[in-house]
Amino acid sequence: MSLNETRDKIAASKKYKFLCKETIQNVLEENLLIHKELKNALPYAKKSLHKIWASYLGEPNYKRVREQLIQAFEVKDDALIREVCRETMYVHSSARERIQLYEQGYYQHIFAKTGLPQRISDLACALHPLSFRWMDLPASTQYFAYDINRNFTDLLGLYFELEGIGPAPIWQDIYVNPPAEQVDVALLFKMYHCLEIRKKGAGLTVLKQTPADWVVLSFPAQNLVGKIADIYGNYAPAIRQAADELGWEIQEELFVNEMLVWVKK
Ligand SMILES: C[S@@+](CC[C@H](N)C(=O)[O-])C[C@H]1O[C@@H](n2cnc3c(N)ncnc32)[C@H](O)[C@@H]1O
Repeated sequence: MSLNETRDKIAASKKYKFLCKETIQNVLEENLLIHKELKNALPYAKKSLHKIWASYLGEPNYKRVREQLIQAFEVKDDALIREVCRETMYVHSSARERIQLYEQGYYQHIFAKTGLPQRISDLACALHPLSFRWMDLPASTQYFAYDINRNFTDLLGLYFELEGIGPAPIWQDIYVNPPAEQVDVALLFKMYHCLEIRKKGAGLTVLKQTPADWVVLSFPAQNLVGKIADIYGNYAPAIRQAADELGWEIQEELFVNEMLVWVKK
């Protein structure tokens, strides 16, 4: 079987039919470079795809959430809309760990440094755009949300439509196919280290390629079982060196359980 046939077979499988084809193609190509023959590369590629797909982080019941969102927006009840968004994000561990920060001024703290964005991108967003109501941004804000998981971008598409924000979320691999939209603030939350696991240097590549005045990175300060972990410490030297070389300003601050890094390009 050729690489393209293998890619198409994986893309048609039950597990990966909602994953971007460009991601599958890239992972196969990268592993083929290392392992030379497709049959040897395939087991490594599958392991890598499983990590990138990260379904173990949790996915909501899409049908139910769609119904709940439609009902909540029909009655225009802010408290109910927030409750549906909060409960939906609670299912995904990256977002769940962050919900407690909203009442502590998480976004206000971020935007106090960057200024309120008129154009914002949310790179590898998962369910995070469901936090829009906590960001205190006007509906005129251009919100570019990207993820490789079409289940997420489809659900967010409905939410954006109901909320009256846009453009429609984008099903795209931000490493293979870097976003072209220039924004005031780009969010790369809890993703830099995942990109580096996918391929050494990929996190830094994405940071460099992102067309934004500010990129705000976040790193979990705890691992998945709640133990304190200095994940940022592994990547800080490379980010600080790039900042020195490229004339970026960086600020680093621990915000409860998330390490935040503001990069002013
Ligand atoms: C660890 S979660 C981070 C989610 C979100 N940024 C947050 O902090 O709540 C990883 C998400 O990134 C998506 N993802 C992984 N690699 C990606 C890539 N190269 N391009 C776009 N999305 C990606 C996954 O589908 C998943 O939804």
